[in-house]
Amino acid sequence: MPDLDPVTDSIAPVTGVTLTARDLHRRFSMGRDTVEVLCGVDLQIEACEKLFLRGASGAGKTTLLYTLAGLERPDSGEVEIGGESLYDLSKARQADFRNSTIGYVFQHYFLLPDLTALENVCLPAMMAGRRRGRRQRAAELLDLVGLGNRIDHRPTELSGGEQQRVAIARSLINDPQILFADEPTGNLDSKTGGEVMETLLGIVSDSLIVVTHDSTLAALGDRQLEISDGRIVA
Ligand SMILES: Nc1ncnc2c1ncn2[C@@H]1O[C@H](COP(=O)(O)OP(=O)(O)O)[C@@H](O)[C@H]1O
Ligand SMILES: [Mg+2]
Repeated sequence: MPDLDPVTDSIAPVTGVTLTARDLHRRFSMGRDTVEVLCGVDLQIEACEKLFLRGASGAGKTTLLYTLAGLERPDSGEVEIGGESLYDLSKARQADFRNSTIGYVFQHYFLLPDLTALENVCLPAMMAGRRRGRRQRAAELLDLVGLGNRIDHRPTELSGGEQQRVAIARSLINDPQILFADEPTGNLDSKTGGEVMETLLGIVSDSLIVVTHDSTLAALGDRQLEISDGRIVA
């Protein structure tokens, strides 16, 4: 994302990272039933690439995104981001790495209802122990997503599209080098959805992986992949 270098006051260099996933497997057991959700997913993303991931409901898009972002360990397989093998790191190092390198926009926002938009955006920076300029940076990001005049609103006082924008601003507060967004326009009408996607693509110059089932929006990226029967199909 565009970030002003504090020394030169110019746009800081883009620092997207590569991602490689090898032979990911993930199954869920429910009583006697087992659902094989990921059946050997291989994936490679170039630094600063904008990849769109499509697939039917229940195809495993969220499971895959969680696995790629280090939020949920696969049963087997590897994920490497910027040369670090995510699931080989200690728990503490993994959390640090997630905080400093990865941004995530959850499918259902997960904003904290008692916090204002500004406080919600500040939260990942607080968790990463970043104090300096935190509130100012959060306000800048809210401005960037078009919510400069809503910073003191709580989630219930915001529309779905506005909550989605807060979630996007929050995902960017720690200047991630790779951003995952799970159906960031899924709950929005097509006009608002288009605006939110354009905002996202306008802000993020680093690596970006977006799940969507909107083929028009998916065409805005560099590359599209589809997940079906637990595998990536062209
Ligand atoms: N924690 C879980 N326990 C059991 N089954 C799950 C769990 N998470 C996902 N699933 C199942 O895995 C499949 C894929 O889910 P998900 O990744 O959310 O799909 P998508 O995001 O493509 O709609 C679904 O059939 C879902 O019911
Ligand atoms: Mg999903």
